[in-house]
Amino acid sequence: MRLSQRVLDLKTSPVRKLVPYAEDAVKNGKKIYHLNIGQPDVETPQEFYDAINNFDEKTLKYSHSAGKKELIEEISKYYKKLNINYNPEDILITVGGSEAVLFTLLALFDEGDEILIPEPYYANYNSFFDLLRVKVVPIRTSGDNGFHLPSKEEIEKLVTTKTKAIMFSNPGNPTGTVYKEDELNILNEVSKENNLYIISDEVYREFTYGENKAISFGDFKDAEERVIIIDSISKRYSACGARIGCIISKNKEFMKSIYKLCQSRLSAPTLDMVGAEALYKLPVEYFDSVKNEYQKRRNTLFKELSTMEGVKASEPEGAFYTVVKLPVEDAEAFSIWLLKDFQINMETIMLTPAEGFYATPGLGKDEVRISYAIKDEELITCMKIMREGLIEYKKLKNK
Ligand SMILES: Cc1ncc(COP(=O)(O)O)c(C=O)c1O
Repeated sequence: MRLSQRVLDLKTSPVRKLVPYAEDAVKNGKKIYHLNIGQPDVETPQEFYDAINNFDEKTLKYSHSAGKKELIEEISKYYKKLNINYNPEDILITVGGSEAVLFTLLALFDEGDEILIPEPYYANYNSFFDLLRVKVVPIRTSGDNGFHLPSKEEIEKLVTTKTKAIMFSNPGNPTGTVYKEDELNILNEVSKENNLYIISDEVYREFTYGENKAISFGDFKDAEERVIIIDSISKRYSACGARIGCIISKNKEFMKSIYKLCQSRLSAPTLDMVGAEALYKLPVEYFDSVKNEYQKRRNTLFKELSTMEGVKASEPEGAFYTVVKLPVEDAEAFSIWLLKDFQINMETIMLTPAEGFYATPGLGKDEVRISYAIKDEELITCMKIMREGLIEYKKLKNK
């Protein structure tokens, strides 16, 4: 008996790679602050639970494969409030943004087709790229300019006859980068001139700070046929466990193929869609306090990082992550050491080595992703642990 090569080739997620070390640390009595995961600690709005509690059908049936009509209508209204004209027929509900990514790739890519994607990028895409044998062609970006995109010429050079799409998350996971209008214009031009789809993952849309605003690719009227939006309630409403996302596009042929995929798995979870519908009915003001909270944390984190010797960080513009260069050769070894050998008052931190977010071998070796989805006071403790950890680690290495 043998498993498929496809599955055998799958790599461990960089976010989970250090879990065994963390488990050991906990067994040894240490408390771990998780700067490694994007699980927000913000409470899921009560409206979600109330809607599910009020559900009074006697049998929990499959829903329509396209998704619950009422939820789709609420999502369409939500987009219209953003001045983006997506109608119910442009929206299909998926089991999280993750299924939206999988279905989109399934619908667009044959084995060996190429995808352009700015690196570092959300590492979970890799499982799907690997399973479908999609060839990743990374667009190099660097922390030196906050992971913003290179010139049009640099991007164009990467296009081949096999290129099918440009994909990115905006605001970005793991970088926290929010693309400016001229960057999106470049992507639009490259896509138009080379007949490429644009897969715009906008699950962090609301979380932008200061002057930064996330511009949706839904705003680009001339790109309608080429644009596919990946969306989800996981982060927007702090409802990761609900597993509700969607695919949005005005390309009818593409949406027809996605609908076939939706039918093959029958239905998204009915009760979660009931809860999601209530979330989409929340007034836009709901985001004010959540955004303020993340902004406060971002400010705390950036202030601390900017005063740490040898650490290079750019101010995160959105989402709740940032990629930081550390004064160490091997960020994975340092992250493991923090879990195994370091503690302050029996407390330590868990970071995500950033190498796994890059497609180009060797890049990101001295970088980590930090997620600030934890409370401000805890972040201050975490940064103290990181600061002192770096000092101690340097001493050890210089011995
Ligand atoms: C950029 C990005 N896209 C998609 C997802 C998938 O989210 P979900 O499947 O929970 O909707 C995540 C989750 O962390 C993400 O960071």
